[in-house]
Amino acid sequence: MVEETRLSKKDFIYPLFIIEGKSQKIEVSSMPGIYRWSSDLLIGEIEDCLNIGIKTFALFPAIDDGLKDKMATESLNHEGLYLSTIRDIKDKLPEACLMTDVAMDPYSSDGHDGIVQDGEILNDETLEVLGDMAVAQAEAGADIIGPSDMMDGRVGHIREELDDADYTNVSIMAYTAKYASAFYGPFRDALDSAPKAGDKKTYQMDPANQREAIIEADLDFDEGADFLMVKPALAYLDVIKLLKEEYEIPIAAYNVSGEYAMIKAASEKGWLDGEKAMLESLLSIKRAGASIILSYFAKEYAMLNQSS
Ligand code: PBG
Repeated sequence: MVEETRLSKKDFIYPLFIIEGKSQKIEVSSMPGIYRWSSDLLIGEIEDCLNIGIKTFALFPAIDDGLKDKMATESLNHEGLYLSTIRDIKDKLPEACLMTDVAMDPYSSDGHDGIVQDGEILNDETLEVLGDMAVAQAEAGADIIGPSDMMDGRVGHIREELDDADYTNVSIMAYTAKYASAFYGPFRDALDSAPKAGDKKTYQMDPANQREAIIEADLDFDEGADFLMVKPALAYLDVIKLLKEEYEIPIAAYNVSGEYAMIKAASEKGWLDGEKAMLESLLSIKRAGASIILSYFAKEYAMLNQSS
């Protein structure tokens, strides 16, 4: 009765990795219990999750190296892995709420979220690619577009492109305060999407900065974001709280791959009670102000908490 914060299965978005092929279920070595799924098996996994109360999924593609180029052309291929899988899921499981990822890195031969020229990221030129990507994903059936690229002006541009293409009901969850973090390591292993040169510090935020999150949030809010996200979650609880206090739209937090990996690794060594550490960290993210949590723990949480 006196608990101020309660978690629910309904709070979660479950990130899932997709790979080419048939009957493939390959564990990500730095993320025990998390797999890269071929589309045929992914459908079954999503169905299992729906049955235990996880309704929303964030999808990420692992693209073959041979299909990557400087302009992330493969991201617009309607018959390609990502868009065809989204269509297939929506066809078979229309009740699944799908969030798609807008950024160039999974398809980019440079491994960056934007277009690279002479070692620099071209912000405005990248917006065109991101807008096209968002429309292609909406056309395939995406319910929520998740720009994770951190280019300036992308939320407004994507909103305009979606509206022009009549996808006015497709919402945008902006990766608003996305920090240049070491905690994305296992994710980049899963997608083989690490930058080939340089780092992401010219477009992702400096971990030293809190007030800058307000600048980013003002832009995303004004440009039409429906949700604001903070990423990573655990090292940035202060930022979650700040955005919760300042904005009236839902605040989401991404409990990222490295945060998952740390708990799993310590628990495998018997150094931590993994289940308790999971519950405590998820609870702290909600307590800080995130009403929506993207987490690799989503399915495990739902399996352990069938009644709430
Ligand atoms: C890139 C993207 C990243 C994640 C989601 N989208 C990694 C990055 O910025 O390099 C990380 C998610 C995680 O670590 O779980 N567009």
